[in-house]
Amino acid sequence: MASKPLKTETRGRVAILTLNRPEALNALNSELMNEVCDAVAKYSADEKIGAIVITGSEKAFAAGADIKEMQDQTYMDVFMSDFFARWNEVAYARKPTVAAVAGYALGGGCELAMMCDFIIAADNAKFGQPEITLGVIPGMGGSQRLTRAVGKAKAMDLCLTGRMMDAEEAERSGLVSRVVPADELLETAIGAAEKIANFSLPAVMMAKESVNRSFEVPLDEGLRFERRLFHSLFATEDQKEGMTAFVEKRKAGFKHR
Ligand code: CAA
Repeated sequence: MASKPLKTETRGRVAILTLNRPEALNALNSELMNEVCDAVAKYSADEKIGAIVITGSEKAFAAGADIKEMQDQTYMDVFMSDFFARWNEVAYARKPTVAAVAGYALGGGCELAMMCDFIIAADNAKFGQPEITLGVIPGMGGSQRLTRAVGKAKAMDLCLTGRMMDAEEAERSGLVSRVVPADELLETAIGAAEKIANFSLPAVMMAKESVNRSFEVPLDEGLRFERRLFHSLFATEDQKEGMTAFVEKRKAGFKHR
């Protein structure tokens, strides 16, 4: 029996989604990405889960969208099915998502990682948008999210030359939040997710929403949005608990997790 393209497990309040197509370096085909989107939606709605980690193997997070699946598709096929549109759902998860990237994160693999809230990279990670070498361009956000993450110069360099950048360059450019030894990657990512999952969930969700808003609106609108969310958190018991615990020099026990 063929193994499942996506493995899912939970550890405490953290859901771990593992891309599992080793024969294709975790290339993202429709079956796999539908499973990823379904799992993200399921765990986002699960009150026992506070954060989601998406990872691959030590050799590849994902080497891109599945070229063999796309090879014979026509313009009408991809236009009429709005190919890739659903895959963007990962970016709209309300619960926090962490990408734990080792090995290749190319094309759609890099784009899937960028849909997560932040990326923790193993020291062997390699990021790139090599679509240009296939006669196409990024189609899952590479030209948009990468540019916002690393700026025009590097985004143009990667999208136009198709070259890969290593973990050190990715961290220096602001694409990844931290780089760790490959054998510590998953534990580090789960540890970060666990930490997030034990804070007040409304505060976590609003922090995520507020950071994401900064990509969409002018500064003044963003500042007002942030302030209104900040005000609204004073309606939660967790704000009282968090601040009282600080004053009383004890650990906060958040209720809404
Ligand atoms: N789609 C389908 N199959 C893929 C794949 C992909 N993106 N990437 C790798 N594979 C398959 C290979 O075809 C190969 O399968 P076979 O053994 O059946 O031939 C297997 O995975 C192992 O790959 P390689 O033998 O090529 O492994 P390597 O170690 O020599 O090279 C690599 C690794 C440099 C990552 C190379 O596999 C590669 O260049 N892959 C393609 C990367 C790419 O172009 N990605 C962008 C895809 S398009 C896209 O993602 C569009 C978008 O915007 C969403």
